[in-house]
Amino acid sequence: MTPTHDVVLVGGGGAGLRAAIAIAETNPHLDIAVVSKVYPMRSHTVSAEGGAAGAIAPDDSLDEHCFDTIAGGDWLCDQDAVEAFVREAPQELLRLEHWGCPWSREPDGRIAVRPFGGMKRMRTWFAADKTGFHMLHTLFQTSLKYAAVKRYDEWFVTKLLVDEGRVQGVVAIDLMSGRIEAITATAVILCTGGCGKVFPFTTNAAIKSGDGMGLAYHAGAPLKDMEFVQYHPTGLPFTGILITEAARSEGGYLINKDGYRYLQDYNLGTPHKDPVFKSMELGPRDRLSQAFMKELEKGRTIDTQYGAVVHLDLRHLGAKKIDAKIPFVRELCKKYQNLDPVTDLIPVRPVVHYMMGGVHTDINGATPLPGLYAAGETACVSINGANRLGSNSLPELLVFGARAGQAAAEYASRKRDVTDTALLQAKDERLRLERDLLNTKGKERIATLRGEMQKTMEESAGIYRTGASLAQGVEQLRLVRARYADLAIEDQSLTFNTERVSALELGFMLDVAEAIITSALKREESRGAHQRNDFPKRDDRRFLSHSLIYRNADGSSRVEYLPVTITRWPPAERVYGEAALHAGPHHVTGSALPSGEGV
Ligand code: FUM
Repeated sequence: MTPTHDVVLVGGGGAGLRAAIAIAETNPHLDIAVVSKVYPMRSHTVSAEGGAAGAIAPDDSLDEHCFDTIAGGDWLCDQDAVEAFVREAPQELLRLEHWGCPWSREPDGRIAVRPFGGMKRMRTWFAADKTGFHMLHTLFQTSLKYAAVKRYDEWFVTKLLVDEGRVQGVVAIDLMSGRIEAITATAVILCTGGCGKVFPFTTNAAIKSGDGMGLAYHAGAPLKDMEFVQYHPTGLPFTGILITEAARSEGGYLINKDGYRYLQDYNLGTPHKDPVFKSMELGPRDRLSQAFMKELEKGRTIDTQYGAVVHLDLRHLGAKKIDAKIPFVRELCKKYQNLDPVTDLIPVRPVVHYMMGGVHTDINGATPLPGLYAAGETACVSINGANRLGSNSLPELLVFGARAGQAAAEYASRKRDVTDTALLQAKDERLRLERDLLNTKGKERIATLRGEMQKTMEESAGIYRTGASLAQGVEQLRLVRARYADLAIEDQSLTFNTERVSALELGFMLDVAEAIITSALKREESRGAHQRNDFPKRDDRRFLSHSLIYRNADGSSRVEYLPVTITRWPPAERVYGEAALHAGPHHVTGSALPSGEGV
């Protein structure tokens, strides 16, 4: 019997679990499946460190959070989505508190907030520097309350079933048995996270291979703003492990090989005690990563066997503060870099961290394909525009996970039959998988092709790009794609066959890599994280719009554009440091929480 559910969630991380809870709360009669390639507590949300933004401080306001987000995104954010996000973020964070999330607190018991990059107010809630770990635990244990949620742990989804112009379920492999099954559903929500693994050096876990983006793209839904790839300025060399922005928000400095706080040379402010307004280290991630590249060009970085680095200096913070506020930073440095930040400088370099782009959705997580929804990093709503501000992604997965869950629940409350054609598609997919993965006699190694794809992405579509580098990248990916058809898969076992999984992940990564490079080639301007040396200026006349890349039936692609939604903040110049004091709204509207819900 084909398993069938009202809603299937693909992905069991923060967005997936939040969506599952929202569905169960919206309509308790619905049957929900969470299909995840890893046990939910191993989802990448677990590794989020620094915090989750939500305006609650007495001197903060929703308008200021909106403005910082929109300016940080270089005016590519949809402002209606940002307004909804900013309004609902504190409510979601408070809801998590009621579900048991142990937010760090001030001595008087109030929720503690810290400053974060590109934000002019202290509004980042945190649980020391293991925020994602605590949020994911909270969501997971809350999801266990709902009997309607059935989990398919360690199942890998390979295809969306689409007939009569609507989604009707998925095909998935049970990794424990190797069984290939159709799981039908009225609605499907993609919550599979990002795709950092298309690049060689990333903070992302190995599981972040863009599966949900690939699934949607193949099913005919467009991917939006894929050219915008975020480099986080502080990754450990070699491993790419994230050293959280919280280290800088607690007062850490970035210094070059001369011991100089070089960010003061890049219009990001001057050295000052106030960490929010004046500290260059709390500039936005795109600008900090670009400044690193300029320091590299000037020969002011430090050479190591794992590439050029600058230093993050936390020594002046002292052991007591480091242990209280950023204990995980100390633990990571000791374990993975063999140094102690209390006494040593930390070598860091920019590292691929986050995709601003993703599956095109509306403000409720709905894609243009009826029955298909997406939330979290997989999706592009878009609240992040051309550059996401640190600590906006955790509340994003809560707000839009909940919205997608509610919208999918409403859609699935009217049941629709699964068509015979959809079931035939499932049969074809099983045959394809058996043909491509079980009996292969090809010559190409997965690791070789993955390595070539990653190298191409770094060289063609890194922090700075040109038309020539991108065009060359398109060509190289075409060659890798052709060789992918001739894969060698030696492991023929059915139980936890990781070689098969790697082959399927590589297929999704190639789709995503092509989408990134093609969209980047077409965007002839520089905006946020997309910097073209051949088009160094932002061009609102031609490109104040989202790119939408579609997959054509023959496997080629086409890019179309969609205007950005502007509500109250017309495009302006992005400014940081002292200049930012005079930009944007400054009136105070008090607590962002509904009355009576103080923290
Ligand atoms: O640096 C960090 O803790 C990362 C946070 C984020 O990506 O939002």
